[in-house]
Amino acid sequence: MQKAVELAPDRLIPGGRPDPLIRQQHGLIGASISRIDGPVKVRGAARFAAEVPLPGMLYAALAYGTVAKGRIATLDTGAAERAPGVALVMTHRNAPRMKPMPLFMTAPKATGGNDLPIMQDDRIYWNGQAIAVVLADTQEQADHAVALIEATYEAEPAVVGFAEARAQGTEPGMFMGQPLKMEIGDAEAAFKAAHHRLEATYTTPRHNHNPIELHAATLAWDGDALTIHDATQAVAHTAWSVAQIFSLDESQVHVSSPYVGGGFGSKTLWDHQVLAAAAAKLAGRPVRIVLSREGVFRLVGGRSLTEQRVALGVSEDGRFDAMIHTGTVSMTRHNALPEPFIQGTKGAYASKTFKLDVEVAYLDALANTFMRAPGEAVGTFAMESAIDELAHQIGVDPIELRLRNEPEKDPISGAPFSSRHIVEAYRSGAERFGWARRDPVPGTRREGEWLVGMGVASSTYPYNRMPGGAARIRLGQDGRATVSIAAHEMGMGTATAQTQVAAARLGLAMADVDFRYGDSSLPGVVLAGGSQQTASIGAAVMAAHAALLTELLRLAGNDSPLAGLSADEVEGRDGGLAKRDDPTRHETYASILARAGRDEVSVEAEGPPPLETQHWSMHSHGAMFCEVRVNAVTGEPRVSRFLGSFDCGRILNPKTAASQFRGGIIMGLGLALTEETFFDERSGRVMNPSLAEYHVPVQLDVPRIEVMWTDIPDPHAPMGARGIGEIGITGVGAAVANAVFNATGKRVRDLPITLDKLM
Ligand code: MOS
Repeated sequence: MQKAVELAPDRLIPGGRPDPLIRQQHGLIGASISRIDGPVKVRGAARFAAEVPLPGMLYAALAYGTVAKGRIATLDTGAAERAPGVALVMTHRNAPRMKPMPLFMTAPKATGGNDLPIMQDDRIYWNGQAIAVVLADTQEQADHAVALIEATYEAEPAVVGFAEARAQGTEPGMFMGQPLKMEIGDAEAAFKAAHHRLEATYTTPRHNHNPIELHAATLAWDGDALTIHDATQAVAHTAWSVAQIFSLDESQVHVSSPYVGGGFGSKTLWDHQVLAAAAAKLAGRPVRIVLSREGVFRLVGGRSLTEQRVALGVSEDGRFDAMIHTGTVSMTRHNALPEPFIQGTKGAYASKTFKLDVEVAYLDALANTFMRAPGEAVGTFAMESAIDELAHQIGVDPIELRLRNEPEKDPISGAPFSSRHIVEAYRSGAERFGWARRDPVPGTRREGEWLVGMGVASSTYPYNRMPGGAARIRLGQDGRATVSIAAHEMGMGTATAQTQVAAARLGLAMADVDFRYGDSSLPGVVLAGGSQQTASIGAAVMAAHAALLTELLRLAGNDSPLAGLSADEVEGRDGGLAKRDDPTRHETYASILARAGRDEVSVEAEGPPPLETQHWSMHSHGAMFCEVRVNAVTGEPRVSRFLGSFDCGRILNPKTAASQFRGGIIMGLGLALTEETFFDERSGRVMNPSLAEYHVPVQLDVPRIEVMWTDIPDPHAPMGARGIGEIGITGVGAAVANAVFNATGKRVRDLPITLDKLM
């Protein structure tokens, strides 16, 4: 099958015939339009999951266990049950029977963060697991009562230290059914024989998710039907997964999530929604659960730690003979994500040989999960730092070294690139940033107490499109259209950009298009993940639009200027259809529908399977430029300038895209400089579960960030657009580390780069 897709003629592959919208040079595609959901959010009129009022609603609070493994020996809930306002205390003793969550990637709509029993017995699997749910009339009453619960444990030996986990033996990592291990040629031998060699080990710590909006759900049962107002990046997946847990039909669970305050991979299904649904069933009343910030650290997985070895061998003229990227990550037995740090290395550079390998050491801990650019975010820190080290060692400009090793086709799969203009991204970025002013000798630029340096790194993220995207387009005689798809708006600008695209495709004004999303009753299975929503929605809407054209031409019949034309020959234009190369042959939608005696026409279709990702090597690309100032006295590092130069295909909306890029870069600054989960390797407990102690970048940490892009459409992607959601975080860690080296001569290979490592 794989071979057949590779060898098939382009025209048989989705994207083989470019999306007609790629030709549109002016108009809505590429227009800087402000977020259509902005005004309701600013007015406080947008109701998030924790703000939906339901009559008779109870508020939930959770008690968290304090050992990493073992059994609950005693659990005294008496005082909590007697506390004011308390309606229910649920523990393993009275929780309803539930199946485990379907673990992510084990089925098309599985979205559980782990597949452990949830409050079904007295077993403890990680330090911080929920051991009791209190429901009360107010949140304060629930919080008070939960504090009165007393538990003791029979602790069992747990593996919570990384060294200990490793000593027990590692196993090869698997990601989406594929081994995270590949070798082309004999890389170790080529490395040993290479003219120049660089070998180093890089480490990255655990990271926890901290979207501004806390994880929350407000839910209610009506008999056996469950409605969940959730904060999720997967409405259809959540409905199906919750149905499996409670042995319901998928149609009995309705998930609504019109507004989400950031997800980044964390807003999937975790224990809190399941516990709230179970408690609501027992209490016979609606329930609202809002995790505390600590609760998010205890119940929602983050990024696991990594230890990565990079070994690079180059020929005398600076071409890679060997590229070795191997190492170990931690994970739990109950989840599906070994941090796949080699992903970004696979398509990045030409090399005679490759050796890539992710090994897994297993811990007794909270399941780790996806966090913005899982794999690439930390993998590029190691690889792009190593390339900088090598460039310094052989006296070649680090941009030049990278460009010398630009591949002509995918270095691993051999597939042609769909579109790759990273050289242009580097050249234009270098010019805008003033790279020529950098002194390659470290530690030479000083302004008072401050050492100043510049660094650069490549960023990369694959174009993804997951199967299952479907859309419905309804067109009314009033000339208004509704496009419906079970997609998500987490602040990325999806609703805005997709309204633009739909309006452009239909030939309507934006005001005449209603884009409906964020509800499991809508068509399609679309995950807001993998930076693939734009492509997934795009392909589904294209399929529905093709069906709409056929239907409209049928309705138009022979008494129309469009008579005799096929769907391929027409396009949406000026509130109707027109012949592509002869816009005088035009009829409005209103006229077509009126003549056909129809109030509306509605079509639904599913996008084709995403075969384009096997036929072409498809990636977003970028070049990250950083200037840092490091205090020579205190070691304090400050990023003073940052520029991201991207090659991600067509940019549909510069305003929302810039925000995506900047947001990714800011998260990358956190990864580089401040973010680290303190995990007690004796007890397995997260020691800094708050924003006071887990440091995400704040305004003063974020300099002026410039973003720019090539805006060259990818001929094989819907709208010519590749993903932009995750690439922004990739390469940032290395760009900062490389700038720190240029400023100080100190090479930090261990994130985050805190001042103690620079003193
Ligand atoms: Mo993202 S980590 O694919 O939400």
